[in-house]
Amino acid sequence: VEIAIIDEKFLPLEELDKVYMDRGTFFGDGVYEVVRSYNGKIFALAEHIQRFENGLNAIGIENVDIEKIKQKVISAFEKSKIPNAKIYFHLTRGSGPREHNFTGDYKPNFFLTVTELPDCTSLKKNGVSVITHPDWRWKRCDIKSLNLLPNVLAKQAASEKNAFEAILVNEDGYITEGASSAFFSIFDEKVYTTPLQENILPSITRKFVTKACRNLTLEVIEKHLSPDEVKKADELFMAVTTKDILPIIEFNNVEISNRLPGEITSKIENEFAEFTG
Ligand code: PDD
Repeated sequence: VEIAIIDEKFLPLEELDKVYMDRGTFFGDGVYEVVRSYNGKIFALAEHIQRFENGLNAIGIENVDIEKIKQKVISAFEKSKIPNAKIYFHLTRGSGPREHNFTGDYKPNFFLTVTELPDCTSLKKNGVSVITHPDWRWKRCDIKSLNLLPNVLAKQAASEKNAFEAILVNEDGYITEGASSAFFSIFDEKVYTTPLQENILPSITRKFVTKACRNLTLEVIEKHLSPDEVKKADELFMAVTTKDILPIIEFNNVEISNRLPGEITSKIENEFAEFTG
């Protein structure tokens, strides 16, 4: 008979719950999103849903009712009654025997959680430190896929050095983005960030940061920068859904803006708050 073992337990393969045969587990074969709410209102849901749909299309997961997923997100959030929530969801290609190709008949698996967002007031107030780490990821980081091992290892390396985030550096010596955030530098009151190409995620927070900058008539320049250039920046910050904007006060042990959140960063944060308030 065909056998499986789950931890210590033997069982016939045919009795195995399909969650154990998920292609998400075998291959990271799926896409995910992280959305948040501010004071009882989901932020930028349409943008997240669009990126999710783009990801599904990019990896060929077809016939997904995207409107139904959007409704699930909304109803789970409403049921939770958590005002400042983190909503995580993913869709994998489905469950089945472990075969790399997906010519079989798969039914996608959907998974979602609504949890409390940890408070990040002190991180915002004090700023965070970051270190650089090689970008070991694949060439389609615009797809928010479940394959996150390089991100996990980079973030762990940062944690072990008491840094909050790992800033990824590609083989050409340029910064791409954070292990789980977008990355910005400020020089002479101009805001710099990595050009939006297939090697980084089209961050939703980045999009609203750009909008905030436009409102403040701050120029945003898409440019590849090296760690050596960035460590001389007037200000640095990172951006991610769960924390929006976090000032960076240390970059590879070099002090940035005298270890204080930068003035322009604070202005951008205030303007950003207009979108979420
Ligand atoms: N990460 N770049 C990477 C590699 C990311 O994983 C994320 C977000 C971002 C920021 O994207 P957004 O502004 O859309 O949140 C940029 C999520 C939150 C995560 O993996 O938990």
